Amino acid sequence: MTRPRDTDFAAVSAATRMLLDRGLADPDVAVVLGSGLSSFVDGLGDVLVVPYSDIPGFPRTAVSGHRGAVVGCTLGGKRTLVLSGRVHHYEGLPPDDVTFGVRLAAQLGAGVLVITNASGGIDPGFDVGDLMLISDQIAAVSGSRKLPQSTFRMAGAYSERLKALAREAATDRKIRLREGVYMGSLGPTYETPAEIRMARLMGARAVGMSTVSEVQAAHSRGLDVLGIALLTNVPLPGRFHGTTHEEVLEAGRRGAGALVSLVSNTLERL
Ligand code: HPA
Repeated sequence: MTRPRDTDFAAVSAATRMLLDRGLADPDVAVVLGSGLSSFVDGLGDVLVVPYSDIPGFPRTAVSGHRGAVVGCTLGGKRTLVLSGRVHHYEGLPPDDVTFGVRLAAQLGAGVLVITNASGGIDPGFDVGDLMLISDQIAAVSGSRKLPQSTFRMAGAYSERLKALAREAATDRKIRLREGVYMGSLGPTYETPAEIRMARLMGARAVGMSTVSEVQAAHSRGLDVLGIALLTNVPLPGRFHGTTHEEVLEAGRRGAGALVSLVSNTLERL
């Protein structure tokens, strides 16, 4: 596996040292869990849980449905660091807090980032509960300033190799895997019908409030990224009945099993 360059030591060094002391050195993979997906780590067996509140400098997330802990485990035979709970731009924290967990994972040595989210599917063919392989992203909000260079390329941020492995895993596990562009906005508002039309015209097939800044941070540090969106609602005209946070969390709970199955099978193929 490729290893990222050590680009951001100062910002996360205390947190890194603390997790090294807890035995979480040198993960192969980091997994970021989206809203309602914290049950992902239930049933994984031998896990080591470190609450975010114990980690120096780790920003606090107050959004319900996000557990707030780093979980060390083995997934698909790979040493995996799960970031259960994420910080969002809409919580009003400094933009670099949004990328803290990913920068920490890079510092610890993760070479692969699996980023997940709960999002709205904006293709009429999509169903609630579908998983969507993120082919590329549109950053309608972009926050990370802690980047190794002042400019860098985002083309290729979502690894073609990992996409291919995920497609194989989906076939193997008989999981229907959609595919498309994800648009990440500031939130916390769900989209208006006009905004959904705009996103579709721009080529997006899913909309959400996360992911894009974390992927910028990961790609700029040399991590290979795999993105999987769980479509918790399909907010299209005619099918639109107002998206609620509870609806998103409930769909997340129901979809977590398929997501674990897809991710673990993909990691087995690395
Ligand atoms: N829009 C934005 N974010 C979301 C949605 C949505 O429809 N569903 C879950 N997160």
